[in-house]
Amino acid sequence: MVKICCIGGGYVGGPTMAVIAYKCPSVVVTVVDISVQRITAWNSDKLPIYEPGLDDVVKQCRGKNLFFSTEVEKHVAEADIVFVSVNTPTKTQGLGAGKAADLTYWESSARMIADVSKSSKIVVEKSTVPVKTAEAIEKILTHNSKGIDFQILSNPEFLAEGTAINDLFMPDRVLIGGRETPGGQRAIKVLKDIYAQWVPEERIICTNLWSAELSKLAANAFLAQRISSINAMSALCEATGADVSQVSHAIGKDSRIGAKFLNASVGFGGSCFQKDILNLVYICECNGLSEVANYWKQIIEVNDYQKRRFVNRIVSSMFNTISGKRIAILGFSFKKDTGDTRETPAIDVCRGLLGDQAQLNIYDPQVPEQQIHKDLSMPKYNWNYPVHSVSMCPDDLKQVRVVSSAYEATKDAHGICILTEWDEFKSLNFQKIYDNMQKPAYVFDGRNVVDVEKLRRIGFVVYSIGKPLDPWLKDMPAVM
Ligand code: NAD
Ligand code: UDX
Repeated sequence: MVKICCIGGGYVGGPTMAVIAYKCPSVVVTVVDISVQRITAWNSDKLPIYEPGLDDVVKQCRGKNLFFSTEVEKHVAEADIVFVSVNTPTKTQGLGAGKAADLTYWESSARMIADVSKSSKIVVEKSTVPVKTAEAIEKILTHNSKGIDFQILSNPEFLAEGTAINDLFMPDRVLIGGRETPGGQRAIKVLKDIYAQWVPEERIICTNLWSAELSKLAANAFLAQRISSINAMSALCEATGADVSQVSHAIGKDSRIGAKFLNASVGFGGSCFQKDILNLVYICECNGLSEVANYWKQIIEVNDYQKRRFVNRIVSSMFNTISGKRIAILGFSFKKDTGDTRETPAIDVCRGLLGDQAQLNIYDPQVPEQQIHKDLSMPKYNWNYPVHSVSMCPDDLKQVRVVSSAYEATKDAHGICILTEWDEFKSLNFQKIYDNMQKPAYVFDGRNVVDVEKLRRIGFVVYSIGKPLDPWLKDMPAVM
């Protein structure tokens, strides 16, 4: 019986291992984490992350061939395959601050594996890491290895939050990189055999280590590039009277471009895109490729611009002052169907509005109040100027109320900002909302979820990203 141990029970480690256990009843999977709180939650009825379909999968395997534990060393020592799925955030100080990946957690995991191992192991990079990390890990493992054979594989994860279970059940591809030695090829086969229990063989791609590591960064950079491209177009649409939804539909019909991932928005968020592009930029710079680095950096610049532009549009639309005005924020997570708020555009938008003295009523169906307050009060890390993080003024934070429904949030508000595309926002009773708001009543739709014409007929002044401007807004000078 193959024994798998996964170090790191987060958004990737938890769901990925649950699906491996579910699909491979003959494999015993143990997820270990240093966070007692997370492991306790994995062992409870309220899992630490919200992900559609995850509860069912966990319930079916937990206690049979899926276990969650804080006994990190014990389970690593017993495992045949060790996945490492720890966090790899952007470095905030020292060399490469603001760009390079912080591999502290990865390196300490590797050292621990080397220390506690008594038998040969396959060590799998599940975390997203810089190219050539496997080489560094190999050095750490073999330096301390007491003659034990360690094979390193790169098996980056491509799941997206909110659709993780579906993505894991039916992945577009599984990527496995390994050494081109007989030992490396044998290790690839062991991991491939596990995935092959439910993934069609032609979807399992085997490469060398560096291609696998780089492909993960490249995939995220290409995906984020599409969003910044359509968001850049959304600004031009607003300036010209074109409609960004029509433009993305028209260009998406070209099979070389494709229809997916072309939704204009208030900006992309999430723990991966910005971090992985910054990491890519850093790698390019380290390799003397400044033009290539600048090309990729521009994707983040446009994303920051899109968030700024949205805030400026709100302020200018409301007669250039939102001081004391109540604004309802609908949605705080970085996308629908997740409670994750890492790098959510809502943080920047809310901070921008608070900086202009607005009062905010925030509603999100999955993000707890405590998390919203924590996100807004943390110093904002400026990736371009890592030494200057910006803190919110405590008095501004007093202007934030977290409420438990969209109707409560919008009552007596001057304006509504939709920042996450939760399905429930599409079916709100906007007539009822309008009747309970201050007039003129504004809607700023950062996700293009509302029916603009219908809302205008009710009486709202509506701004929707990349859509032809409301006649009311055309006269408002907007500093973008
Ligand atoms: P996460 O922060 O949710 O989880 C990481 C976990 O690792 C935490 O629970 C932490 O306590 C634990 N950990 C850290 N050091 C440890 C140690 N020494 N021993 C045991 N546990 C330790 O992060 P995540 O979102 O799951 O991401 C993990 C990796 O996967 C990152 O490299 C990320 O870039 C990558 N990734 C994330 C996603 C995503 O959608 N979140 C998708 C693909 C890839
Ligand atoms: C991403 C990648 O999709 C996934 O393959 C990788 O493993 C991890 O990073 P994730 O960040 O979970 O996944 O979500 P994703 O669906 O990619 O969305 C990222 C951000 O882009 C969200 O804020 C989303 O709202 C935004 N987005 C996405 C758009 O603004 N427009 C789009 O068309 C698509």
